[in-house]
Amino acid sequence: MSKLKITDDIIYVGGNNCKERVFEGEIPLKKGMSYNSYLILDEKTCLLDTVEEALKTKFLASLKRNLKQRELDYLIVHHLEPDHTSGIVDIIKTYPDVELYISPMGMTLLKQFFPEVVIAHYHFIKEGDELHLGKHNLKFYNAPMVHWPEVVVSYDTYSKTLFSADAFGSFTVYKELDCSLYEDQDELLYETRRYYANIVSKYGQQVNALLDKLKDLEIERICSLHGPIHTCSIPSLLQKYKLWSNYEKEDNKVMIAVCSIYGHSLIAGYILKDMFEKDHRKAVLIDLNKVDFSVSLTHAMMHQDIVLIAPTFNMGLFPKMREFLEVVVDHQLKNKRFAIIENGSWCPQAKDIMTSYIKKLKACDILPTSLTINSALGRQDLETLRQIVKEVDESMVKKEKEQKKVIHKWKCKICGFVYEGESLPVDFHCPICGHPASDFVQID
Ligand SMILES: Cc1cc2nc3c(=O)[nH]c(=O)nc-3n(C[C@H](O)[C@H](O)[C@H](O)COP(=O)(O)O)c2cc1C
Ligand SMILES: [Fe+2]
Ligand SMILES: [Fe+2]
Repeated sequence: MSKLKITDDIIYVGGNNCKERVFEGEIPLKKGMSYNSYLILDEKTCLLDTVEEALKTKFLASLKRNLKQRELDYLIVHHLEPDHTSGIVDIIKTYPDVELYISPMGMTLLKQFFPEVVIAHYHFIKEGDELHLGKHNLKFYNAPMVHWPEVVVSYDTYSKTLFSADAFGSFTVYKELDCSLYEDQDELLYETRRYYANIVSKYGQQVNALLDKLKDLEIERICSLHGPIHTCSIPSLLQKYKLWSNYEKEDNKVMIAVCSIYGHSLIAGYILKDMFEKDHRKAVLIDLNKVDFSVSLTHAMMHQDIVLIAPTFNMGLFPKMREFLEVVVDHQLKNKRFAIIENGSWCPQAKDIMTSYIKKLKACDILPTSLTINSALGRQDLETLRQIVKEVDESMVKKEKEQKKVIHKWKCKICGFVYEGESLPVDFHCPICGHPASDFVQID
């Protein structure tokens, strides 16, 4: 892959916005953001998505240069979010015969964003549709709510490339398009994870549906709309997404999410971290006063066990914790276990408010022991902290055991009914035909 050539005839025409410091008005960017667009030069010419407004002029020039006097035959609009649609109107004017491939919902949104646009030639994409460009052949799959309703992705059967819209994106820019040449692989994974947590994690079920559709495709590269192109370790990358979309933990670390006004709650957080580590559990302390919500949300997605520590503030919850829990509730993270520690000097309220946030989440539990710190941690509080460590540890061990349970399948030889479980009970009778366990055969 050369600088802007993905293959001999798939050309990159997007760009980096290195000056962008905040994405979508709220998410901090470390290096900026790339807005990717791809051009296929086959018997037919085909552009896949456009870019954001700041990159439009350069993008249109690059498109023209790479077309080398040829007409543009097709424009595929996978996703209508404005960071990928600047330039569509210009393209329709410059290449009046271009045929738009777009989902019906995409067309509705296109007309909302560009009320003046006149589209003479278009084709509504349906699941399974194909577009033959010559050697290249694009096959379309709907990806509703990953993370907008109108999203489609396409797979080029010739180059084995998945054009994935915003799925599999990263919060970063590229020096080289090939992800294996990215300067810091840990940073790239982190920015891919942070992108998923903040942009897509609310739609785990829909991501799962997309992953299911992709599971039998032979994918050599994933060209998403943000960040470098995924060219290596695609099965393990998809495995990571499977983990995230199923709200499973990435590691066994306990997250201690703490905020503090004067520092006493923070001290409790450090003591707790020490206790966990003496107990051979790794813990990561996230100081909510210091990190932005996109980082704390990313950690909340990665870890399953979360200890919340926060002071009471004007008969309410200290805003840094409120912001964290609001973003967690907003993204509907699942499968978490929380322990709660509050602080207060005259009328502690934080615990009840933290509890009410957690109750808005599905498949999340609160451990029985909580702690109220009255201003500063007292000697008697240490015992309660130890109890919290013990409960977190026990619930982790229990969960690990549950996950190790192996599920088998037995099929009824008479009617075909399939029973799933750890073992087939000896007194089991088929709920369909009534035959006993002896008429079942194990099939895995
Ligand atoms: C503006 C402000 C409002 C507060 N409101 C309350 C309150 O309503 N109820 C209470 O018990 N403590 C309240 N506190 C006290 C803190 O919650 C308490 O001092 C706590 O120990 C601070 O923990 P920290 O050292 O981790 O910041 C308030 C403190 C501040 C600065
Ligand atoms: Fe998007
Ligand atoms: Fe996007």
